[in-house]
Amino acid sequence: MSGQALRDFLSMVQRDYPEHFLRVTTPIDRSFESTAIVAELERAGQHPVIVFENVKGFSMPLVTNVAANRKLLAAILDVDPANLATSFRDRCQNYLPAEVVGDAPWQDVVLEGDDIDLTKLPIPIQFPVDAAPYITAGQICARDPETGVDTTGFHRLMLKGKNRLGVSLHSRRRMYEFHRRAEERGEPLPAAITLGIHPLHYMGSMAFHYPPGVRKFEIIGALFGESYRLGRTGTDGLEVPWGAEIVIEGHILNDVREPEGPFGEFTGYASYRSTQNVFVAHRVQMRSDAMLHSVVSGMAADHIRISCISREAEILNSLRRNLPNVRAVHVPAETCGALMAIVQMKKTAAGQPQQAIMAAFGTETYCKCVIVVDDDVDIFNLTDVMWAVATRARADRDLFLIPGAMGAILDPASDPEDNTVTKVGVDATKPSGRDYAERLVIDDEQRARAREILAGMGIAGMQ
Ligand SMILES: Cc1cc2nc3c(=O)[nH]c(=O)nc-3n(C[C@H](O)[C@H](O)[C@H](O)COP(=O)(O)O)c2cc1C
Repeated sequence: MSGQALRDFLSMVQRDYPEHFLRVTTPIDRSFESTAIVAELERAGQHPVIVFENVKGFSMPLVTNVAANRKLLAAILDVDPANLATSFRDRCQNYLPAEVVGDAPWQDVVLEGDDIDLTKLPIPIQFPVDAAPYITAGQICARDPETGVDTTGFHRLMLKGKNRLGVSLHSRRRMYEFHRRAEERGEPLPAAITLGIHPLHYMGSMAFHYPPGVRKFEIIGALFGESYRLGRTGTDGLEVPWGAEIVIEGHILNDVREPEGPFGEFTGYASYRSTQNVFVAHRVQMRSDAMLHSVVSGMAADHIRISCISREAEILNSLRRNLPNVRAVHVPAETCGALMAIVQMKKTAAGQPQQAIMAAFGTETYCKCVIVVDDDVDIFNLTDVMWAVATRARADRDLFLIPGAMGAILDPASDPEDNTVTKVGVDATKPSGRDYAERLVIDDEQRARAREILAGMGIAGMQ
């Protein structure tokens, strides 16, 4: 383990994977340029971690694309890239108590009152539709006003003024509920925004299916394989990562809603939907040489890759508890890392796909389509999955609709009034208990012989 801070990760990548590290010294504009550069690299199949040293008009460097690279994510978990979801699932559950350590490096600089000026941070505007510069790597930490158990997670933050940020809690998980509970008591929710985290923190913060008494910091510790080190803030005794770059303390206001958005979201659309909350900062602390961490928004891998992994892991975890014959789950990036899950099972009894569909929907709110296939179908190959749907599913018997179900607020297909969707389960497995059409196969020996013949004819790429 090479350290728990973002900078430890950057050092590891520079040292061990220099081909996946890019330092850009050319001056870039904060508007659109960092996102466009990442998009061009993605088109070329490249996912480097990037440090933009020179954002015009700002002195602080910008670090981005930290969680886009499957190879690097596998390296920090010390597993094969193919086993990322299963390793994440296994490791997440070995909760480890966090450890509070004094004198965090982010205590170097302390700004309060009129000295706070968030407009001095090189916060990108990522898409022309974005209403303002957006902090996209802000991990917000707050305590449950009822139990005192804290949580941490990303929530987009729209720059509104020197100490004012718009925030959307649309995923309606713990933070949304904590704020609702505070508001019910007539109180604001004390909160701290952490900027600059290690990708294992990013990964752990995306866990959602765990007991209410567990802290996310205990899950992040489980991923590190050692207690996660925290520093204590002066706001409600909130604890935040010791290795952070910048910590912004404040409150999410009660009974205040203001326009927030539009913003270029993970769905690939401009999102005009928001819970329209407001965060007001009363203290900012940072390292003297702090860097600004930003997640590339839209459908960029930096935004979606970990969503795929955590959802695959959580759904697999639920299904395996009841259906040991479930082999794997794929949440494709093409479906925004959220909206569809494909389940592979070795079906042993009729009705098992329906059982899997119900459990998957019960685990994950954003998911609105579950396709179940047999174990001869490669679920990581969407062509194979579509073939199975086309040849094994019968609409009158194998489609299951759940109207009026809770969906993702940001899904443009969800109801604009109440955000419900109709969820669909598709059983694309062969019927059990009777013969079915025989799948055509070309076996490995035949393939090898064909490649040999073609290679002998000088046809490239055949070996
Ligand atoms: C880059 C990124 C940005 C996110 N932005 C938001 C957001 O703006 N609002 C939100 O409610 N959830 C957002 N999410 C999802 C939450 O972070 C996620 O659901 C998390 O588990 C919620 O944690 P909580 O249970 O502490 O609320 C985002 C996730 C990622 C990866």
